[in-house]
Amino acid sequence: MSEPVPVPHGLPMERDAGPFDPPRQITRLREARPVSPLIFPDGHQGWLVTGYEAVRQLMADTRFSSRQDLGVLHVPYETPGMPVATEPSPQVPGLFVAMDPPDHTRLRRKLTGAFTVKRMKQLEEHIVDITERQLDEMARLAPPVDLVKEFALPVPSLVICELLGVPYADRETFQVNTATFMEKEVPLDEKMAAYGAITTYLAELVTGKRAEPGEDILSDLARDDDLSIEELTGIAFLLLLAGHETTANMLSLGTFALLQHPEQRAELRADPDLMPGAVEELMRYLSVADIFYRYATEDLELGGETIGKGSTVVVSLLAANHDPERFENPDTLDVHRKARGHLSFGHGVHQCLGQQLARIEMRAGFDGLLRRFPTLELAIPADEVKLRTDMNIYGVHELPVTWTESPR
Ligand code: HEM
Repeated sequence: MSEPVPVPHGLPMERDAGPFDPPRQITRLREARPVSPLIFPDGHQGWLVTGYEAVRQLMADTRFSSRQDLGVLHVPYETPGMPVATEPSPQVPGLFVAMDPPDHTRLRRKLTGAFTVKRMKQLEEHIVDITERQLDEMARLAPPVDLVKEFALPVPSLVICELLGVPYADRETFQVNTATFMEKEVPLDEKMAAYGAITTYLAELVTGKRAEPGEDILSDLARDDDLSIEELTGIAFLLLLAGHETTANMLSLGTFALLQHPEQRAELRADPDLMPGAVEELMRYLSVADIFYRYATEDLELGGETIGKGSTVVVSLLAANHDPERFENPDTLDVHRKARGHLSFGHGVHQCLGQQLARIEMRAGFDGLLRRFPTLELAIPADEVKLRTDMNIYGVHELPVTWTESPR
């Protein structure tokens, strides 16, 4: 058995195998021991889970508590980048991604109706409209343009703002502060300040909606007296953050990946029916929400190892989605692949609430972009694209693109 691997400066995150593949050390660990002991910078021992089967099993088992989940949200009461040992985190009201049943169940249930496949289908046409309008605006610009700024970030921000009833004009408040909040190396007090700014803003917003509800998801929740203002604020924060950061990075990194795989892109353009499958494959291949944390509430068996009660467990969805035991040639992007079963939306009780919405946004986004900008290309060499290895959600900071033929 291999010895525990020390983690001197956070997990290996450098993309030394290319912008889309898992870091080499993570791949080596998965090959050697898919459930590996790790030693964190503060000296406590935890575990890193990289094998597909083990990750799936762990996420299905709520004895691996989510109360230490710093993954999507990076809840700001812990050491930046790394969890502390053994103690479950205090609960932030409303932040149900970091809760266990029954607290989690009570809050998630209040939202399932708003995010059903049927409700999302009804929104599809409207989301396509928002996407096409954003592409109209981009087409009016003289290239090169930054695809993140002009397309990938505005589309999901517009969509989630409208659904929640958050004025889009206030986007600076949440876009700038969530960026600070999601950056790994930012000192804790700055994170706290950014978090405070967003929650102060959202608390005022939901208080207004409680007094005078409108036609949106936060108003519907505000009508429910069972939810406190603190809980409404936490839910609003979670939905707003999860609803734009992840999808924006999928759209921009997905475009980068398609531009780097011209044959795959040509196939998609020739046959738009491939799009739903291609979106699943891009989700698998890119796994932008990669690292999640759990904590063992009792001694638990996983992948032949015994995880002691109180251990911190780090999960890499990217490593699991690139496990050759589950996906053949996992480091190859193949739009024909049956990629369903990937773990990019998580698994188990916390499986992504917004997944149908995200799928619709991605289908509309990639479809519109490929159709209307057939000659889209990178405006800088690929190795100069700034990768978000410093952020909790992977992607690109900017994606300068250009085109030769007038957009359609
Ligand atoms: C949960 C990924 C888009 C809302 C999750 C989880 C993952 C994920 C991996 C599981 C977290 C865990 O187990 O700890 C993604 C990706 C997206 C995306 C990759 C885009 C491509 C969205 C959107 C929304 C959303 C558009 C809109 C509301 C949520 C919420 C949870 C969640 C509320 C927490 C669910 C719970 O704890 O029960 N997401 N997500 N996500 N996601 Fe998403």
